[in-house]
Parts: sequence; C-alpha cells; structure tokens
Amino acid sequence: MSSKRDRMGNRKEGNHERPPSHLRGKQIGMYYAQRNRERNEANRKRPLGTILLSESRKNQIQAVLNSTSFKNIFATTSSTYEHLEDSAFKRSFLRVINETIDEKLQHTCARLAEDATLNQSLYEDFLQKQSSPKYMNMIAKRTKLPAFNMKDEILKVIDENQVVVISGETGCGKTTQVAQFILDDFLQKQKGSVCKVLCTQPRRISAIAVAQRVAEERGEELGHSVGYHIRMERRPPRDRGSICFCTTGVVLKIMESDASLSWVSHLILDEIHERDVMSDFILALIKKIKAKRSDLKIILMSATLNSEKFSKYYDNAPHLNIPGFTYPVQEFYLEDVLQRTGFVFESTHRIKHKKTKMYSDFIEPHVRQLERTRQYSRQVCIQLRNPECEDINLELILQLVIDVCGKERDEGAILIFLTGFHEISTLSRLMSESGRFPPGKFLIFPLHSLMPTLEQKQIFDTPPRGMRKIIIATNIAETSITIDDVVYVIDCGKIKVTNFDARTNSDILAPEWVSLANANQRRGRAGRVKPGMCFHLFTKARNMVLEQYLLPEILRKRLEDVILTAKILQLGPVEPFFAQLIDSPDPGAVTVALELLKRMNALTDDEKLTPLGYHLAKLPMAPQIGKMILFGAIFSCLDPILSIAAALDFKDPFQLPVDKEREVYKMKLELARGVKSDHLLFHEALRGFEESGNARQYCWNYFLSHQTMKQLQDLKKQYMEYLCEMNFVRDSDPKNPECNLNWDNLSLVKAIICAGLYPNISISPVLGKAPVRTPSMRRLKLHPKSILAECKYFDTNILVYYKKMKSKVDFIYDASLIHPLPVIFFGDRFNQICEDGRSFISINQNLRFKCSESTASIIKELRDRFNWFLEYKISHPGPVVWGGDDETQILSLIMELITCEDMEEFDDDAFDDE
Ligand code: CDP
Ligand code: MG
Repeated sequence: MSSKRDRMGNRKEGNHERPPSHLRGKQIGMYYAQRNRERNEANRKRPLGTILLSESRKNQIQAVLNSTSFKNIFATTSSTYEHLEDSAFKRSFLRVINETIDEKLQHTCARLAEDATLNQSLYEDFLQKQSSPKYMNMIAKRTKLPAFNMKDEILKVIDENQVVVISGETGCGKTTQVAQFILDDFLQKQKGSVCKVLCTQPRRISAIAVAQRVAEERGEELGHSVGYHIRMERRPPRDRGSICFCTTGVVLKIMESDASLSWVSHLILDEIHERDVMSDFILALIKKIKAKRSDLKIILMSATLNSEKFSKYYDNAPHLNIPGFTYPVQEFYLEDVLQRTGFVFESTHRIKHKKTKMYSDFIEPHVRQLERTRQYSRQVCIQLRNPECEDINLELILQLVIDVCGKERDEGAILIFLTGFHEISTLSRLMSESGRFPPGKFLIFPLHSLMPTLEQKQIFDTPPRGMRKIIIATNIAETSITIDDVVYVIDCGKIKVTNFDARTNSDILAPEWVSLANANQRRGRAGRVKPGMCFHLFTKARNMVLEQYLLPEILRKRLEDVILTAKILQLGPVEPFFAQLIDSPDPGAVTVALELLKRMNALTDDEKLTPLGYHLAKLPMAPQIGKMILFGAIFSCLDPILSIAAALDFKDPFQLPVDKEREVYKMKLELARGVKSDHLLFHEALRGFEESGNARQYCWNYFLSHQTMKQLQDLKKQYMEYLCEMNFVRDSDPKNPECNLNWDNLSLVKAIICAGLYPNISISPVLGKAPVRTPSMRRLKLHPKSILAECKYFDTNILVYYKKMKSKVDFIYDASLIHPLPVIFFGDRFNQICEDGRSFISINQNLRFKCSESTASIIKELRDRFNWFLEYKISHPGPVVWGGDDETQILSLIMELITCEDMEEFDDDAFDDE
C-alpha cells in the first residue's frame, strides 16, 4: 500500500490510503469504516500530555501528605454517613436521603386551625372594603367578565369536589377572579381564618402582574389580602384570609420542607396547558398528597385547550368550562400580507439546495392553486416561491405595521408576536429608526419576561385619544397576559423552544412553527373588545400542516435539574416517579442525565443524593454551574466564578449586530487580552463593567448588552445569597475579599471552571490542533461566537465547554483551554495503567496522560486526600479559613499543582525517569 507524506515529511494517516484494488462497491465503504475505527482506537490510546513533577515538588507533596491529618475518616465513605459530625446540614441531608415523601406525609398532615376572633376581624375588614370607591369602581368592571356569571357554579363545584378543572377562553377572568371568589366566600361566611389560597403561575412576570392587578381590584396595596412570592422576591399577604400568587418553582420549594402544604387551603394551578415541567411535577405530587389532605382543594385552570386531558389524569375530575365571548377575528396569511403591502424579499443565494427543494415541493401546489384563482398578483406568487419567504422577516413586519397604521382607521392596539428578545429589540429599533412612529402618536412596548418589572403596568392602559399602542411580545402575551384593547395581531408563526437530543447529548434551540393551538390563541387576542384582524406570516398551505399542540417541556428538556428536584422532594428512584407524570420523559434522556449526575458525584450508584448533590439540588442553577460555584467558594475566587456562572446559566451578554460580526470578534479579542477562554472573557467583561465609570459607554464599545450585564450583576448577588444561606460564605457581597483571596489567579479560575464543567471535555489527538473531538472521537466544531474559533495554534489539547448545540454540526459555544492536571484532579474514574512497559494515568477510561509510576502514585494519594477534604468541606459547610492549618495546606498544594502547567513554572532541577 502506498503511503503519502506531507510537507513536513510525516506520514499521512487514514483515508489517504487507498483500498486494495480487488474491493468493490459496498466492500470499499466497509474498508474505510474499518480504517476509521482503527484510527479512532489508536487516537483514543494516544496520551494527551505528559505529567512531569520535579523531585523537589514530589518531596513537597510527600511532606504535606505526611503532616496533614485528613487521613482515614473519609477513606471509607459509608452510606450511613456516620462519620459526619452532627450538624443542621447532616440532619437535613440524612432526612432527605433516608425518608420518602410518603413516609413524610404520614406524620405531617396538619390543617389550618379555625380562629373565631380572626374570622370576625377579617369579616369586618371585608365589609368595610366593599364600600370603598376603588373597590366599587373595579367591581363594576369585574362583573362584566364571563367568569363572574359563573361565580356560584364555580364555588359549588369546588365545594363538592376535591379536584376540579376549570377552563375558559383567555381573558374570561380565570386568573384574576377565581381566587377572589373563593376568598370572598370564606370571608363572607366568617371563615376567613381557614382560607389561604395559593395560586401558581408558570412565569415570574405573570405572578407579579396578576398580584398587582388583583390587589388593585380589591382596592388594596400588595401585602394585605393579596401578595406574591417568586424566587428572591416576595410581597407576602397576611397569614390567613389571603391569596398568594407564586411561581410553580416556589411551590416545589415549599414542598421540600412542607410536603403536604399544611398551611394552604386551596391550591390553584393556573395555565397548566403550558405543560412546563414544574407544573407537570406538581400535578403528580398532588396525586400523592390529596388523600392525606382531604381538606385541601385543588383547582386546575387552563385555557380552552386540551383540558379534558387533565380531568382524565385525575380520575375524571369534574370539568367546568367558562363560555367566553370574543368578537370575530378575520384571518390573513402571508399571501394576503404580501398582496396588501407589495413587499418584495431581498433575494439571497446562500440557501442550501435541499431546503429549496423541500420547500418548493411543499409550496408549488399551493401557488399553482392561487395562480388559477387569480386572486393574487403575479408578484405575490413569485414571492411565495422564495424558499425564505416564511422565515421571520422584520422588514416585512415593519412594512405591515406601517400599512395597518396607515390604512386602518380604528386606533385599536397592535400586538406583534415574535420569538425572542433579540427580534423584539431589533424590531423596536427598526420602528423608531423608520421615523414613522413618532413618540407623540405611538406607544411602543417591548414585552418580554426579562423586562424590568416596573414598566409593565401601562401596557394594560388604554392610551389617550389619537395615540396607538403597539406591543411587541413573545408568546407570553398568548395566554398569561391579556391586553384588552388589541384589535390587530401580527403572528410571526414561530415559537422558540429548546429541544434536547439525548442521542447526541446536546440541546437544539431553534424557532419552530407554532402549533394550531398557539395560532388560534394568538388570533383570539384581537377580538376582545371589538371585531379584529390577525395576520399570520405563513402561507395558508403551512396552516394546513401545523401540529395540534406543542410537545410538553418534559419531553424536550435536559433532565439533570429535574432529577435533582425529584430527589430533594424525596420522590425515590426517578423512573417509577416519571412513569406517574402526565407525560413521561424519553428513557434515553433519563439515562443520559443519571449518568452525568453520577459522574459529577451528585448521585451515588444507587441513585441517592450525595452531600454534593444535596447542595446542587438546593441551588437554583444547572448542577454543573452549581458545582463550579461551590468550588469557587472553597478556593476563594468567587467573584470571577460568579460572573462566569451567571453568564453561562443565564445569558451571554455579547451582542451580535447584523453585519458587525468581524468587529465584535475583534473587540472580544481586545477585551480578552490574549487569554484563550470565552469564560474568562465573561469575567473580564463583567469586571470592566463593574469598574467602569461609564458603564453604558463601556457596553457600547464592547458590544455588550447593558441590560443583560445588569441582570448578570444581580444574579451574582443572588447566587451569593444562596451560598450565604448554605453557610459557605459569611456575607452576600460577591466582592467580599474573604471570598476572593485568589480572584486574580486566572489559571486557578480556569481549573475551577474545569471542575464544574467536567465531563464536558473536548480533545485533540495532536497537540497544536483545535481540540474539537469528544473523548469518543465524535467531531465537534467551535461556534464562530467563541474567541477560540479563529485561533491558529492551541497550546494544550484539551478544552472544557458548557453549551453544545446541534444545528448542522455539533457546535461548542463557549470554551476554555485546559492543561492536564486540572482534569486529573477533577475528572472521574482515575486509574493507573501500565501498557507495553509504559505507565499512564487514565481518567474516565478515555483520557490518557503519560506519567511515571512514582509520579502517578503520589498524584493518586494527593487526589484521594483532596477528595476526602472536599467531601468533608461539602458535608460540613463553612467558610474556608486560610491559615496555616491542614485545610489550607492541602488546598494550597492542589492550587499550585492545578495552575503550574499554565504558569510554565516547572522546576528545572532533575526530572524523574521520564
Ligand atoms: O386568566 P384569564 O385569561 O381567564 O383572564 P384574566 O387574566 O383573569 O383576565 C381577565 C381580565 O382582566 C382581562 O380580560 C383584562 O380585562 C383584565 N386584566 C387587566 O386589565 N389587567 C391585568 N393585569 C390583568 C387582567
Ligand atoms: Mg390566566
């Protein structure tokens, strides 16, 4: 066989060798497949680097090992955890792992106790309220809602049944009225002391908005008979005789300590048709507690979609539908919009053939039909044949809005549905730049769950005469927020959802076609006060092929945090619990998640929480990020780690204005100052932002979103509050010097990133080349957003990443180059192996490092000792005291080792036998 050589004279490998000439057809393919397997196998065995420790370093390690006392207490981690010192943590942890929710429910089934004096005073308060002008003014509006007509029926069915399902057209008054009916009924009957309504909302923003509204309807301030409770923010109402709106997450949090919701009399689960994981969870948990809490009333509320499914899930619980009234809404499709506006798409040529072909097969019959009827111009038919015509096109939306404002005399509000923050902000920018929407005549509101809560109330108000209100929203305006005076709806036809692909273990985030249910809901928004119009920006042909409903979130999501939530709720092995859910997740996705949690040491092999897993379950972020933060606290470099954690868990603050990609990349490089890590770049960006005298200018210069940066800063504080609650730090200032002794040691920060993100590792078999293969040799690609995307030379062949998304190929979005020692210390399945007389350390069976036997042994001993120390620290939470004692001796030594490769400060005295 011939073998080629490259310019450097090295033998070229693999596919350049031709198959033997006698092979034919399929055999040739098999030949190449076999060669590939062999090459991958060879690559897998190739060491990723060499670990060299000088004699003096080894002596130093030995000295610390001899002197520290973290010896055998943790050598045998017994599953009874007898070796842990008694503490609040230990008691709570043991309870969580040893007790099931059913056992817990056996002995915690208290109910609200009646209090006659309180009944009386609540009653008087209620009578007084009813004569207040504010209350009377609002009640006039409330009585017009369809729900109000059904008040008695609603109360009756709730009284007679434990579980009921209430459905009704969006805007009919479910969310704002039902809770009040219940409360007022109790107050009226002088039983206020045994009424406590908890009403869940799937989003933070709607919990606040609704609480504000209901308080207003009752002529009160928040905090009296109405309040809200969302993560990190609460305005609780009075203890009894009250309504509290909260997020689904908060209810689960409450159930961690009070599984039977003992102080609640009525639980309303609102918007359950959204099918978010948390609501699905609560639905399943309620099944467990309802028998134990026969006095607890459960009311499930949903828009008029699919509500029978919920009734069935609860053994055919009675179902009450509130008939709604909406005005007729005329529907238009893309062809009508093109006809109306005369819009012509800019033709682009970068479309892949396959997509073009699929599209034209799909659209051709429809366009021919249109041509036959001659209802539409030739130009429209030409436009419809453009394979990009159904993509979201903000220019087209702009033209349509201008057209509606010009042609439609009615000043009714316009509601535009888009997919995300980026589109919403771009469209509002385009609108203001167009000069067609002068502020004196138009009120434009972007509406997104990340919007600051303050600006929201005016969205609901009818604008002064002569002004038109335009709302640009995500699907939040579909069911959970109702704006009455909308007359025109523009529906982009897409919705942004993440899908998790268990096969490739990656997320796919893409705008998808809405379901028919979404499209109908969106249309309905236009007919609340008078007949309206709805413009769908997809063809009528597309409308025929839309799905009935979107998939529920549990079928689309990564399950690690879902599993941890189940664990902290003491639900036992996950599979039987998942089987009880209204829809059970894909077993493949469950396996992938359990595997990751075990490898992270969050779960034991028999699927019980470890002390680390317990903390991670309590933290509100993804487990890998939570682990990173805990390690950041232990190694005293919290501020940079919090910045990175916030950016990874919440949002990348860098913006990518259209056509400015090069410039953004350049500014990122400038900001990174030679550091080859997207993660450290986040840290650098936040540091600059926090220290800058002119933060807005700073953000402008570096293409950072000022708003996202502020949110990241808030998040850092929230994370600190959690750490403080868990007793890992003493106060909640991210910059507290006590938690930041090593904040400027960037090599350490990178090693901690590795500790958190492991096992998200990508490698290169050859030093210098981009590390873009999984340890099992699947090919990956660096996303152009990463500052490593255009890097020419890589000085290590390992990188860690957090986000991997599949579009055409698997893209890594964020990366840091890492040296071997952090991987060896923080990776799992450490092994010493000897092969052909050569000695290696292997991590997780597929990452190999060349290393002499003596060095490997001493590293192993230090690693064990370090793990005991970590285990001790994690199970005895408390700030690390950096003095000269055992604790910090081990930490300092580890710190030196995991950073020394980066510093290239190998001692040059006699190396050992390498
Ligand atoms: O929950 P459902 O969709 O059935 O309706 P709702 O949220 O209770 O809203 C009932 C009505 O209250 C809406 O049609 C609006 O007229 C009004 N509302 C409001 O003006 N301001 C709010 N923040 C919420 C509701
Ligand atoms: Mg509602």
